[in-house]
Amino acid sequence: MTLSSDHDKPLGFSADAGEITVDFVKGKLDYRRKFGGGKKQALSKAVGLHKSKQSLRVFDATAGLGRDSFVLACLGATVLGCERHPQVFAALHHGLQRALEDIELGEVLEDRLSFVNGDAIELLSCTANGVVSNFRPDVIYLDPMHPPQKKSALAKKDMRIFREIVGSDADQLDLLEAALKYPVARVVVKRPTHAAPLREGVSHSIKGKTTRFDVYMAQS
Ligand SMILES: C[S@@+](CC[C@H](N)C(=O)[O-])C[C@H]1O[C@@H](n2cnc3c(N)ncnc32)[C@H](O)[C@@H]1O
Repeated sequence: MTLSSDHDKPLGFSADAGEITVDFVKGKLDYRRKFGGGKKQALSKAVGLHKSKQSLRVFDATAGLGRDSFVLACLGATVLGCERHPQVFAALHHGLQRALEDIELGEVLEDRLSFVNGDAIELLSCTANGVVSNFRPDVIYLDPMHPPQKKSALAKKDMRIFREIVGSDADQLDLLEAALKYPVARVVVKRPTHAAPLREGVSHSIKGKTTRFDVYMAQS
């Protein structure tokens, strides 16, 4: 199994070719950037972008294929995505380089989207003064691997392959605990619609079509 970034393929997985590609320029993400509902979409509301007058700084602790990071950056947030799997990080890195070479996207993403390779639990636990990897976030966003679904539709094949590579994120509760200790205004966790919250203390939830965003607001 190899992971790569190929400019000519849509973002996601090319299971037949045994490759994972990250492409921010074409395909599903380009469509979502143009027609995804802007700041009215659930992800934006969960992070607080729809109400924020200033640019929010979001630490995406589980960058994965960078889709959520990308959407947030296109909506005006400054995003640092963290990915611990080295091959997934490499695909992300190359995908971002390609996007920066694109005239239109390069302007949108420059200074607004970057990725770091590392374990977010360690990064969040080892940093002081609310600065992680030279970045001071307002929001921490988590989208750890969801539990496997019973229905195995063809469309889920890509996800099964991704799961084989990165595993099940068994330490996701530890990541949430580390995020909740961090001095940020809110922590957002993406969950399958019908799954229980990862932990109690949810302030409110925003429902999307297939997922739910559990928001933990800082106690003031
Ligand atoms: C479900 S995917 C995230 C998908 C992503 N939100 C997107 O839009 O493409 C989860 C990813 O988080 C990464 N991950 C999980 N726990 C992590 C941690 N503690 N530090 C860094 N990366 C982590 C996994 O390696 C995996 O690539």
